[in-house]
Amino acid sequence: YTSDLDSDAIEKGEFPSYLAKEISEQPSVIRKIVQKYQNDKGELSLSPDITDSILDSDRIYIVAAGTSYNAGLVGKNLIETIARIPVEVHVSSEFAYHTPLIPKKPFFLFLSQSGETADTRQALALVNEWEYPSLSLTNVPGSAMTREASFNLSLHAGPEISVPSTKSYTAHIAVLAILSEVIGLKNGSLKEAFLIEELETVADAMQRILDHTEAIEQLSTEVLSYSSHAFYLGRGLDYFVALEAAMKLKGISYIPTEGFPAGEMKHGTIALIEEGTPVIGLVTEEPVARRTRNNLQETKTRGAHVLTIAMEGLDQPDDNVVIPKVNPLLSPLVSVIPTQLLAYYCGLHRGNDVDKPRNLAKSVTV
Ligand code: AGP
Repeated sequence: YTSDLDSDAIEKGEFPSYLAKEISEQPSVIRKIVQKYQNDKGELSLSPDITDSILDSDRIYIVAAGTSYNAGLVGKNLIETIARIPVEVHVSSEFAYHTPLIPKKPFFLFLSQSGETADTRQALALVNEWEYPSLSLTNVPGSAMTREASFNLSLHAGPEISVPSTKSYTAHIAVLAILSEVIGLKNGSLKEAFLIEELETVADAMQRILDHTEAIEQLSTEVLSYSSHAFYLGRGLDYFVALEAAMKLKGISYIPTEGFPAGEMKHGTIALIEEGTPVIGLVTEEPVARRTRNNLQETKTRGAHVLTIAMEGLDQPDDNVVIPKVNPLLSPLVSVIPTQLLAYYCGLHRGNDVDKPRNLAKSVTV
């Protein structure tokens, strides 16, 4: 393998923290991934060993932990929509003890930034015992999972030093999108390649958000920092991003935060809404935008301080953050950026060590 590690990649440089640096690197990581997965003809491609093995399978299992699991949820949507293969996503610490019913020809995807997470490795060891084919997506060349899985794909995100994962989340999604397109074209589910251009638009959209962070910083310091708890709400892909956004906000700021499917709040959790409770709504999917907004309104009438992150075209005058329009399938790559920034500024304002939040380890190897 060729290591991506060079001295620039592990220096903070002008940035106050690795977290700030890694959040800001995401547009260039997306561009690098596109470049790395292009063949001589400029098409996205994967080794035939990998594509043949996936094409031979009747169901894909994604197994991962933490942020990598959250990326897997978005990956499921990409693979099912673009390549039309059913996908299940499993938390690695559950997989070994509550093994799902597995069909005749499964294919396993193990997502891990570090390639060393013990629970994910344990699940991979089981899959190896059963002699099923597997592919690991990792960011650390030479890590355990790169050797233990049948195949490996690199995230090409460069070293991620900060404990909270940011660029490896978006890198996982980008590589899974590429896998979806390559498989979709081969099995005929997708008629025409579209991803290179769309990922370019995504990188530009990410950069536009990163160039204007003042409003997000202000929301963090003036609204979120002082709250005792908070919620992220969304439907579909926005719900998956809500889970990741909540994990980042609680992990970096220590404010208890839940990510919730917007329509599910009224079945119990809405009891936690008090005067001023921040409820952050994600609105990037046209078919459910109105419903999500209705759910946000339901919390507002109970006193919530609603903040909305909406995609251009679905935005309304009072929205707090409007993200540039991208292909709706790829919206998590862009909508997650303001949520990472909210967590970052909130953590800073509360005086936390944003690179090493308490009790967290970069790689949980035990
Ligand atoms: C979150 O920011 C953490 N870094 C954590 O949830 C992490 O994603 C999880 O421990 C899995 O790590 P891995 O991707 O290296 O396997």
